Amino acid sequence: MNFKEKYNKIKSEAPHEVLKSQNAGELDKARSKYIGRKGVVTSLFKELGGIPHQERPLWGKKLNSLKKEIENLIEKQKNSIRKEKSKKEFFDPTLPVEHYRYPGRNPAARTMDEITSLFISMGFGVAYGPEIETEYNNFTALNFPKDHPARDMQDTFYVDENWLLRTHTSPVQIRVMKESKPPVKLVAPGKCYRRDTLDASHLPVFHQVEGLMIDRKISFSHLKGVLECFTRKYFGGKVKTRFRPSFFPFTEPSAEVDISCTICMGKGCSSCSGKGWLEILGAGMVDPNVLENCGIDKNKWQGFAFGMGVERIAMLKYGIDDIRYFIQNDKRFLEQF
Ligand code: PHE
Repeated sequence: MNFKEKYNKIKSEAPHEVLKSQNAGELDKARSKYIGRKGVVTSLFKELGGIPHQERPLWGKKLNSLKKEIENLIEKQKNSIRKEKSKKEFFDPTLPVEHYRYPGRNPAARTMDEITSLFISMGFGVAYGPEIETEYNNFTALNFPKDHPARDMQDTFYVDENWLLRTHTSPVQIRVMKESKPPVKLVAPGKCYRRDTLDASHLPVFHQVEGLMIDRKISFSHLKGVLECFTRKYFGGKVKTRFRPSFFPFTEPSAEVDISCTICMGKGCSSCSGKGWLEILGAGMVDPNVLENCGIDKNKWQGFAFGMGVERIAMLKYGIDDIRYFIQNDKRFLEQF
């Protein structure tokens, strides 16, 4: 057979052979027979040298497009074999789902559990309450007089006149004090809502852990002892704690609690705006009016309360500079915890 006859034979036979392949093995055989290293098309290329000079470019072109044509057909056949195969494959709905790498729990949820566990280790119980609360439990029972400006600082979403999305987990403490007798020693972790505009340090939905201890002889020293123990356990033994006078309607006296800046160790840096201190929570002795509102004899019982924002604590612990990361569901952020 001369060059031309060989070419014509391949051109008419190759498509049939490729398209009749029924599986990957047969298709591979056809591929090596025609365009493999020792394939017939490949060897024809080597014979181009024997073609008269003027015709050589024409046959070169023809051979190239024949090769391309066979390659395309092989690809096409490969796809249809694959489709056929998946149609025939038995679908077993009882097989376990494909395993995805789970990027880790949201650091806010994790931090909330860590804080809660620390207080459990100090003998505190845990209480939960509803996120839709009565206006009474969220404000009035906590000694926020109606129309008092302190309410504006915790402006919220009202469901109607009497029901709202809780602005803190303090109403859980009201529920427990109304329903059970002292002594009480609990923390209330959970989600809270405020009508705050979203920015680097505010989320309209965030988490808190609040604590309450009521007993016969509870003093401010107990509060200091418990919170200092917490800050040392959570932020490390070297951290210092300070109490600054403050105001909350439900505690008297009230304090805001700071820790020495975990980044500059109290020297002053950009994270603590040069102050050397970072605010972490609010606290104080439970106002006798609150005890009375819950039917507890203020002459027999006293107690302290404290409350902290979980995202804020996580930001200080891990050096997170924007609170919005907690809700963006970005794997690059979540994978770091
Ligand atoms: N409930 C307060 C808040 O959400 C925090 C707090 C709790 C302050 C207990 C003092 C005592 O801002």
